[in-house]
Amino acid sequence: EAKKRGAVYEMNEIAVKVYQDLLFSPAGQEARAYLKHRGLSQAIAEEFNLGLSERGGQMLVKIFEKQGFTHTEMESSGLIRVRNEGTGHYDVFRGRLMFPIHSETGKVIGFGARALAEGDEPKYLNSGDSDVYQKRSVLYNLNRARKPIQEAGFSILVEGYMDVIGVYAAGVRNVVASCGTALTNFQVRSLRRHAGEVVLNFDPDNAGANAAEKSIPILLEEGVRLRVLSLTGGLDPDEYIKANGAAAYGDALRGARGYFHWLADRARTRLDLHTPEGRVAAFQFLLPAIQKMPDKLDRLAVANDVAEYLKMEPGIVLDEFRKAAAEKR
Ligand code: CTP
Ligand code: MN
Ligand code: MN
Ligand code: MN
Ligand code: MN
Repeated sequence: EAKKRGAVYEMNEIAVKVYQDLLFSPAGQEARAYLKHRGLSQAIAEEFNLGLSERGGQMLVKIFEKQGFTHTEMESSGLIRVRNEGTGHYDVFRGRLMFPIHSETGKVIGFGARALAEGDEPKYLNSGDSDVYQKRSVLYNLNRARKPIQEAGFSILVEGYMDVIGVYAAGVRNVVASCGTALTNFQVRSLRRHAGEVVLNFDPDNAGANAAEKSIPILLEEGVRLRVLSLTGGLDPDEYIKANGAAAYGDALRGARGYFHWLADRARTRLDLHTPEGRVAAFQFLLPAIQKMPDKLDRLAVANDVAEYLKMEPGIVLDEFRKAAAEKR
């Protein structure tokens, strides 16, 4: 098993190199134009080890064969697949911009792969789980971000690869993403080890807001101090920085408010707080996240926010918290 994992790490390293060489070869011209169009310099592309997978689907498999890897080893890397029809093997990632995913200690464990043409579906392909990659436990860029997170005292959690790179290129380096999966407790704990505060900065669209709503209880459960940054103009972090500049992003980041305000805004858009029914519904909406907070003093502080927001007595809110907690037991 250890030997098999070793082979997978080796193949991943080779793949990074092959993809990088292709990106900076004549065959990478279109992909380099795409990077430029997205505002990414060669220096940033190199820092993130970006690459290009070959279109034909035989490049990696041939190289691995020549280097003496067995087909079983190749398949367990997730980079090579056996043909459904006929015989032979082929490269899983073809004609895509490649984002190597590193473990916290800097080993290449998987890949994200973006289509180069708009409208090519799926937009992103990601490595499946393998012996060295469990997506539920990985955060993209944590290998580069862990020091900056420690220094800043907080981490920024964004949705995607391009958001991480855009934010990082703007000089804000304490940024990570959970790529193509719902946030897990495991991922939050690996952030929590470096700093106790998280700024959640998902896309300000429906998908992003729903993902944020699901992520908040998980973050609170792990005892993080949580702020939410909802960028204006419907732009994701990468687009926002491109449109408004790094300084504007820094300002927005500093202005990000506690998660409660974001949740309350969500409740306000859906519920009528002028009616008692609306206020009860808002209370029910806010309660689950608050109950996840392990710290009693934190809960107390939020109870005051809830009371003010719903124009209730803080004592009554606390009673309701206790009742709800008792029912849960
Ligand atoms: N994602 C995915 N598979 C898809 C679409 C999205 O795994 N088919 C994941 C990727 O990690 C992606 C993230 O969800 O980065 C956010 O999706 P989206 O906002 O649609 O993409 P962007 O990150 O904004 O990508 P881009 O800027 O390249 O269009
Ligand atoms: Mn999105
Ligand atoms: Mn996005
Ligand atoms: Mn984007
Ligand atoms: Mn997009």
